[in-house]
Order: sequence, then C-alpha cells, then structure tokens
Amino acid sequence: NKIRVFAPATVANVACGFDSLGFAINQPGDIVEAVLQDEPGVRISEITGENGRLPTEPEKNTAGVAVLALLEHLEETRGIEMSLHKRMPLGSGLGSSAASSVAALFAANELLGRPLKKGEMLPFAMKAEASACGSPHADNVAPGLLGGFALIRSYDPLDVVSIEYPENLCCTVLHPHIELRTEDSRRILRKHIKLQDAVIQWSNLAGLIAGLAKSDFDLISRSLNDIIFEPVRSLLIPGFDNVKGAAIEAGALGCSISGSGPSVFALSTTMDKAYEVGAAMKEAFSELQLDSDIYVSAV
Ligand code: HSE
Repeated sequence: NKIRVFAPATVANVACGFDSLGFAINQPGDIVEAVLQDEPGVRISEITGENGRLPTEPEKNTAGVAVLALLEHLEETRGIEMSLHKRMPLGSGLGSSAASSVAALFAANELLGRPLKKGEMLPFAMKAEASACGSPHADNVAPGLLGGFALIRSYDPLDVVSIEYPENLCCTVLHPHIELRTEDSRRILRKHIKLQDAVIQWSNLAGLIAGLAKSDFDLISRSLNDIIFEPVRSLLIPGFDNVKGAAIEAGALGCSISGSGPSVFALSTTMDKAYEVGAAMKEAFSELQLDSDIYVSAV
C-alpha cells in the first residue's frame, strides 16, 4: 500500500511570536509517497525538485531524520521507503524543512496503523528541525502538523495550543529568489533584549492572539508588529521596507518577515485584497531587478 501525503508551507513567528506562533498556508508544500518495507530503517529512493540538491541519506534529510526517530520510539522492526517531492524552495522562510518532515511523519504513522496522534509526532519533527538548523523550534512543524494557527505555549514540557482565527483570513507571501539559511539568520540575533522592548513584544503577541480568537481585525492589525527581530533580520532582505510599505498601502492588516526570511508575509481580510496586496508587493520588489514569487492562500 502506497500513501501520498502533502504538507504545507508555514509562516513562523507571525511578527511578534518568535519561536512561539505559526500558521499553515495552502501552498506551496511538499509531497511524500511512502510504503512499508520489511527491512528496518528508512530508505529514500528518490528526491525530485530543488535540482536534486538534497541528499538521499536518511540521516541527512529532515524527512529521514523525523521518521528514523519515530521508528526508534515505536521500537518498530519494519521500515519505511519513501520518495520526497520538494515543491517548495529551500532557505525561503516558508518552513521547507518542516514540510518534508511533517509529510514523511504523517505518511509513516498512517502506514504503521496510526499509533500516534498528530500532536504526539511533534517531538520527532522538532528533532528534524534541530538537525536542519541547530534549533528544535516548533513554530513551523506544529502548524504544519495541526493546521491553522499553533501556539507553542511551552517547549519544556512541550505544550502546543491550536488558536481560533477568523474564517476569512488570507495570507500573501512574497518569496524573493534569494536563499537565507535559518541557521545564519538566527546567528545574527541578539541574545539579550531590553525589558521595555520585551513588554511591547509580548503585549503585541497577546493582542494578536486575542484579535485572532475574537475575529477583531483591527486588533490583529494593531498587534502585527515585531520590534525586536524584524529590524535586524530585515537588513538581510533587499527591499524589505518598500515591500512592507507597499503591502500596508494596499490595505493589508500587517506585514512582516515569514519565519527566518527572506519571504515576507502579509495578512488580509479577503482573497481579493490578498491578491491586490501581492501585486503591490511584487511591484515594489521588482524595482530591485530581482525575481520573486507570490503565493496567495486562505489560512
Ligand atoms: N522561529 C524560527 C526563526 C522559524 O525565526 O528562526 C524558522 O523558520
């Protein structure tokens, strides 16, 4: 029996929720096709997309790392053979490594007779994140596995909460055609923050969660700010200020860096508005003579 699983891109941080908040979008995403095999372990028979840049050794690939950890946890004597179809760019800030591990874990868990619930697979996906960028952050893998908005209320012990959000929330993503490794865009962050900045940041995060839960678009808009990380990381994203300005001017609720960048996301209240915002972002970015993709998606 072969299973085919799609796992979506995710927007981590959502401005003020560094390592704490993320949401899933509909596209792009990765696809894993998998079957059970009699031999233990993981075999990655094929990887398509991203010009064959990803290694097929399971321990060097987030899909492999995650499933190996799952099989070990379950003390499983059987194994998984899979092919991975990368349908999203590496180093984009859209949770590419997470999409691969989430799709692979979900497929393996189904083939093994669903021993774990979705949330119980998180630690294995986090292990894969750590292997990819040195940090086991869950703000891509949690929304990837659970869908919608996921809040990592605590890492130790792990406590992940699904957050209610308005039905008609739409997301625009501009993906500039440059690559930024999460490891690198984490290394440049300051390790200490000022108390007065922390107060502003956690008040915004609380405001954002409340705004999402109450479908209060004005509150969402007032809260979508990142005063700590965006000023540092945006220096690595050419044209960031212009793209953000164009998104706000076109009527987005807010705009910030997706995950560790370089992608930039904006939230809107309708699909029409999200497309308009995308056109404005693309135009602002094209002034730099650089290519980009726009993804528009319901949340
Ligand atoms: N929270 C992580 C970061 C997400 O900002 O580094 C990485 O995709």
